[in-house]
Amino acid sequence: APIKVTKICCIGAGYVGGPTCAVIALRCPHITVTIVDLNQDRVDAWNSEDFKLPIYEPGLEDVVRQARGRNLFFSTDVDKGIKEADLIFVSVNTPTKKTGVGAGFGADLHYVELATRRIAAVADSSKIVVEKSTVPCRTAESMRTILEANSKNHCRFDILSNPEFLAEGTAISDLFKPDRVLIGSLQTEEGLEACRALADVYANWVPQERILTVGLWSSELSKLAANAMLAQRISSINALSAICEATGANIDEVAHAVGCDSRVGPKFLKASVGFGGSCFQKDILNLVYLSESLHLPEVAAYWRQVVEMNEYQKRRFSKRVVDTLFNTITGKRIAVLGFAFKADTGDTRESASITLIRDFVAERANVHVYDPKVEEEQIWMDLTEAMPQLPAETIKKQVTLCSSALEACKDAEAVVIATEWKEFTLIDWETVYANMKKPAFVFDGRLLVDAKKLKEIGFKVTVIGRGNGL
Ligand code: UDX
Ligand code: UDX
Ligand code: ADP
Repeated sequence: APIKVTKICCIGAGYVGGPTCAVIALRCPHITVTIVDLNQDRVDAWNSEDFKLPIYEPGLEDVVRQARGRNLFFSTDVDKGIKEADLIFVSVNTPTKKTGVGAGFGADLHYVELATRRIAAVADSSKIVVEKSTVPCRTAESMRTILEANSKNHCRFDILSNPEFLAEGTAISDLFKPDRVLIGSLQTEEGLEACRALADVYANWVPQERILTVGLWSSELSKLAANAMLAQRISSINALSAICEATGANIDEVAHAVGCDSRVGPKFLKASVGFGGSCFQKDILNLVYLSESLHLPEVAAYWRQVVEMNEYQKRRFSKRVVDTLFNTITGKRIAVLGFAFKADTGDTRESASITLIRDFVAERANVHVYDPKVEEEQIWMDLTEAMPQLPAETIKKQVTLCSSALEACKDAEAVVIATEWKEFTLIDWETVYANMKKPAFVFDGRLLVDAKKLKEIGFKVTVIGRGNGL
């Protein structure tokens, strides 16, 4: 008989597992969804009575309010979750390896392996195990080896790859209306049967033609490829922004003209101070590592350049700030608006803002930071990690956290816009100008301000992808 999924367990209550399985629970009231995590604080936050959830994502709270306690549960009892489920998502973190073979490139599969071993150790019935974390090709294969070598009581394990394509800040709408759902399986009878069971779960709200079923390795590679190609567009437009700044061309005009070609398309062509986030850099470096291990050095070099261009873009922007402020920012107050890696998230992983602040601190500026969503504790953690050579007191002496944009800009010599938060488009620039040292500088790393209007107020304005004459 065809497998029918009625109990799902998700291991890992993070940015991917949390929202994804909350939406599955909402859309499939007949399926019980339990999200388990080892981190007690995180689970407590998911369960908190006042819905102070551990991640900020527009629309998420509403989904959790509707489903929690009905058919959506959060728990630290990993073993119970595994035992009861017929389908298990493995959605644990896969950071870039910090030491050993492939350090700085390969993914650290330690957490995936631990979770997989746990499944093998406690399962007493057959399971469909779904790889949901982003991981390099062949992870599913490793998971299969571990499960088969350790299975007890004749348990069957069918492994699927089901990469998640949601973007932070729009996770809930992406999950409600995905461009596609991708499921990879072995092309055996059992593999295809497991694939059908998971496809049936998504079919509760995703149109059939958007559910793509492919081989395991195509599925795994597609996730890396999609992120690499998206990031490549940003690095391409950012490379062009450097030419614009040197020539008087305007990157917005160029991006618009290029994007009008239906073969190119208009999205993901916004020049910026550099892409961030937990996925792009990590996935490209994975692709680089994979290419190298397959003895394809030219392919590795091609993709590596996408990340190098991003580093160059961040460096170039810091340098432009220093150059414009008469070659020194020592002792000067610089306001940095935005610390998250993009708008509508409290996530700071790989945020360009961290690199900028590190550069400003190295130049001994006094940096005043404001972000509408990022927790103060997180900012201190990121900055101390980014500047391991500096004692924490030194960093705290040079960096001040502020509770509004206006407060951050007060008495500053320059304002640097690092994240495209909507509230920064509503800033009262007349007031900011009145409270700043003169000449007052604005550096727009997100093509967010009306440069002409700011110039009329009296600001000296510098914008990514535009020359100094604007
Ligand atoms: C190109 C641009 O498309 C056009 O806008 C510009 O004005 C001139 O340059 P053209 O070189 O005539 O036009 O043909 P195009 O269809 O772009 O193909 C260029 C090459 O890319 C061909 O060799 C084509 O076979 C190849 N190609 C195209 C691929 O290999 N894969 C593709 O997906 C598309
Ligand atoms: C990305 C992918 O979009 C998503 O499909 C995948 O599942 C995870 O990785 P995410 O990192 O959450 O999602 O956000 P995304 O919107 O892709 O932005 C990534 C970075 O690129 C941000 O720093 C953003 O500011 C930057 N960006 C994006 C640009 O600089 N210009 C653009 O045009 C688009
Ligand atoms: P992502 O962005 O990929 O979702 P996160 O770091 O936000 O990554 O979430 C991963 C979660 O997985 C963390 O909350 C972590 O505590 C949890 N986790 C890692 N390993 C295990 C494990 N073996 N069992 C249960 N939870 C785990």
